[in-house]
Amino acid sequence: MIDPKEIETYQKLQTPFYRYDLRLLKATIDELIAQSKPFGYHVHYAVKANADSRVLEMISKAGLGADCVSGQEVQAALDHGFTSENIAFAGVGKSDWEIELGLNNDIFTFNVESQEEIKVIQEIAHNMGKTAGIALRINPDVKANTHKYITTGLEENKFGINMWELPDVVELLKNSPNLNLKGLHLHIGSQITDMDPFKNMCLRINEMQNWFIDQQIRFDHINVGGGLGIDYGNPTENAVPDFKKYFGIFNEFLELRPGQQLHFELGRAVVANMGDLITRVLYVKHGLKKKFAIVDAGMTELIRPALYQAVHKIENLTSSSDESFKYDVVGPICESSDCFGKEMTLPETNRGDLMAVKSAGAYGEVMASNYNLRPKAPVIYVD
Ligand code: LLP
Repeated sequence: MIDPKEIETYQKLQTPFYRYDLRLLKATIDELIAQSKPFGYHVHYAVKANADSRVLEMISKAGLGADCVSGQEVQAALDHGFTSENIAFAGVGKSDWEIELGLNNDIFTFNVESQEEIKVIQEIAHNMGKTAGIALRINPDVKANTHKYITTGLEENKFGINMWELPDVVELLKNSPNLNLKGLHLHIGSQITDMDPFKNMCLRINEMQNWFIDQQIRFDHINVGGGLGIDYGNPTENAVPDFKKYFGIFNEFLELRPGQQLHFELGRAVVANMGDLITRVLYVKHGLKKKFAIVDAGMTELIRPALYQAVHKIENLTSSSDESFKYDVVGPICESSDCFGKEMTLPETNRGDLMAVKSAGAYGEVMASNYNLRPKAPVIYVD
């Protein structure tokens, strides 16, 4: 809930802006640590979800590592207090300069996604006189039951090394003296709310580990990626995700070998609910059958509804009406897909009302664009 005094202040501010509630971020991090610590699990925060400076600082101070997918993210992690031995670098298309940056900073691992990448990292590390820590990102061909654009662990997806390639990979690694194989990495997708896919991934890892042990390969750590979903429908009631249930699945189904560490790469679950996108109603347009609430934020600030048909809860913060109506809440961008939600039940809405698009802390600001030459929306912190 946003405090009425805060809303009064917001009425004087230019919209749209992101509102980050650092108190909720702190509570979420505390719960994440409380639930992972008893098992000795280690969490790398997926920087791609939200790379805001204050957010990164809070997360690094809490002792989490960083999961990065670009040289810029690696640099941002280093600049915000993450130590290099706590940085994993994934991504199907790492450029040479990004590999060099990682090597220069002796990051924990490159999560490698293809045979060709293994060859390139070996060559660059050799030329630099360095050893690269690597984890093999395997595509486990496990269904994630989520939107197809955020499914990553199926054979048809571009991510990871296919299981049938593994014998060749083992041979390749024998001839790669500048690579230090540390871990096994998987990530099946994002916004996963049903625990079965995670259970299936655990079972798949157990089989894989048996195969690797037969090849005399042992991993220091297993990295199971991220993907834990949040409750977009009830972001206030379920503000903090059920980390207990999530970590419990891995504890129950994953067979860790002696001394082996388990790593996670959570993004959305850490930051989604601490963020609201605050926007103002510009016009209410009455169609023949529909009412449109046209707001001043759009797909340029939050592209998730347009890209993944995602539904974020929307609250009218200022209407005092007891009557409610159905509105299509749309942005100002010249695209029909610039629509936050269709037929959303809201109290009677008028020009000037303030609205909060909830759960915009993950994959909101980081995916913003300046389409239609719109400037980047500012961030307001609550702490
Ligand atoms: N690890 C890897 C290798 C990943 O590819 C991702 C997300 C994560 C960890 C973090 O996943 P999370 O815990 O946040 O689910 N823009 C989309 C989500 C894309 C996720 C990409 N990879 C969205 O707005 O739903």
